Amino acid sequence: MCGIVACRTSAPAVEFLLPALSRLEYRGYDSAGVALTARGRDALHTMRAVGRLAVLEDMVAMESPSPDLGIGIGHTRWATHGAVSEPNAHPHRDCGGAIAVVHNGIIDNADELRARLQSGGHRFSSEVDSEVIAHLVEEAYASCGSLVEAVRRAVHQLRGTWALAVTSANSAEVVLACYRSPLVVGSSETEHFAGSDMIAMIGRVAHVHVLQDGDIVELADHVSWTDMKGNQLTPRSPVTVDWDAEDAEIGVYEDFMEKEISEQPAVSARLLDRLLPGVANGLLWKNLALPSFRSIRFLACGSSLNAAAAAARVFRDVADIPARTIIASEFEEKVGGEVLTIAVSQSGETADIVSALRQVHGPVLLITNAPYSTLARGADAVIDCGSGPEIGVAATKTFTTQVIAGAALGLSAAAALGRSSGSEISQQALALAKVPDRLEAAHLTSFPVAHALAGELAQAPGFFFVSRGAGMPYATEGALKLKEITYRWCDAIPAGELKHGSISLIEDGTPVVVIDSGSPVRLHGAASEMATRGARIIRIGPEGSGAAFPVLADVEGPWGPLEGVLALQHLARSVAVALGRDCDKPRNLAKSVTVL
Ligand code: F6R
Repeated sequence: MCGIVACRTSAPAVEFLLPALSRLEYRGYDSAGVALTARGRDALHTMRAVGRLAVLEDMVAMESPSPDLGIGIGHTRWATHGAVSEPNAHPHRDCGGAIAVVHNGIIDNADELRARLQSGGHRFSSEVDSEVIAHLVEEAYASCGSLVEAVRRAVHQLRGTWALAVTSANSAEVVLACYRSPLVVGSSETEHFAGSDMIAMIGRVAHVHVLQDGDIVELADHVSWTDMKGNQLTPRSPVTVDWDAEDAEIGVYEDFMEKEISEQPAVSARLLDRLLPGVANGLLWKNLALPSFRSIRFLACGSSLNAAAAAARVFRDVADIPARTIIASEFEEKVGGEVLTIAVSQSGETADIVSALRQVHGPVLLITNAPYSTLARGADAVIDCGSGPEIGVAATKTFTTQVIAGAALGLSAAAALGRSSGSEISQQALALAKVPDRLEAAHLTSFPVAHALAGELAQAPGFFFVSRGAGMPYATEGALKLKEITYRWCDAIPAGELKHGSISLIEDGTPVVVIDSGSPVRLHGAASEMATRGARIIRIGPEGSGAAFPVLADVEGPWGPLEGVLALQHLARSVAVALGRDCDKPRNLAKSVTVL
């Protein structure tokens, strides 16, 4: 899971490549690099640096590449094959240094190809699978003399997944290829741009074309699209870039996570404006035109799995449809029959889900923030969460919009299938419509509380998150959020389960975040049992209840105490900031996990 960019412009290529890489840094940030060239130039200017993009930016400023270098490719890496080092950073070059390649994906037969190429005299300078592509292109170019044809011959030999951008010192062009890894291309007049994600192109083009598996695109004076056999293709249908530059800028905020937490009321309102008209009349569900089914399984990972758990409850409670969640990486197709699979993935690229869905034969509905992603291309129906770019690695607004989309779908399914009374669905739809205002109130209340608690809580080595029933997906999400950005251990446990073992971990001062939900008696009983043993109880509860975070609605919808997630996100972020962590780019993590 890396970010790739490419351009062929009349301005210095770095003016596009560096800002575009910075927007793609969420995809990986352990090293970065660019390779630049120009028409009539017989060399590539390649710069690679270990560390954040800022290190590469400094290198570019020092080396000050010639401004006529308007053709270029760039990469921001998240290491999977080979250590984090300059030789392993992209772009990778052929033996003569005249061909450069950036790659996102995994080449499964890299060892085999490397051995063959080495025995033919090719010299490798890195440990990474991607380098074989540069040598394959070199080999093919020597016999055909055309970069696009050489890339075509190279990809024919690959097994695995790839999004590629290739340039060469001799041909004044960039060639792109993709297979099960995202890549978009866009043009403005005579300039051409490409990137792993539309976000790279913000402000440059109004439309992009999304490459499909097997497409090979040549960015030369004109853009030409061909398939793996060399047949001409018409460019894929254009997709409007409806994100503004502002959506991808940090603005007045300290970090993207803070910005994205605060955007939740607005993005939720926008989503509900789109979905609510189809809820009580069942049209949102009916228009998906899915075949009939008896049960639902949600497939997801991480935060999306937690959102799926909240959504599954709506299907069970209101639509009376058996619905369960399955960790995508643990999925094994056992039951055939009439099962609807709902995949939930903000990126639409998560390899664990892509791989699980290969085993699924029935219909697939996708809830995503990336409606042109790999998963979207394979789904029978797609619900776009429309959250705008989420740059902080920790999911915040995408979690919330997934819950809302899932809840709206569950209510609409109940209406469409006649599983609940019209008045109950209308009442729930009304409660859903109030969510943006509740999120806003929870945001304003939670921010100062979390800030005030952070210094004290930063001293704690670990945390418990406790709830019941509909609150559990949020307890689990709170624990995930805190652990991923603070590097403290966190455990989420249903209140009743504590006494069966975990309570032995409670010491004087152990923070226990209690999310009010389900039966208050059992929850409060468990909280006081822990308090008696020295736990530091931090409650997320309704207004006027004496909770540290008084943010929950008095009566919660079947999707549970969603407002509480604002408290959980602020808490995680404030503790991370107090510990001096980079909450936007936590260690060892990247946003779009395209490896198994
Ligand atoms: C946590 C987080 C991850 C993702 C998970 C699935 O903050 O973001 O746990 O939720 O990697 O990613 P998607 O939703 O892209 O499938």
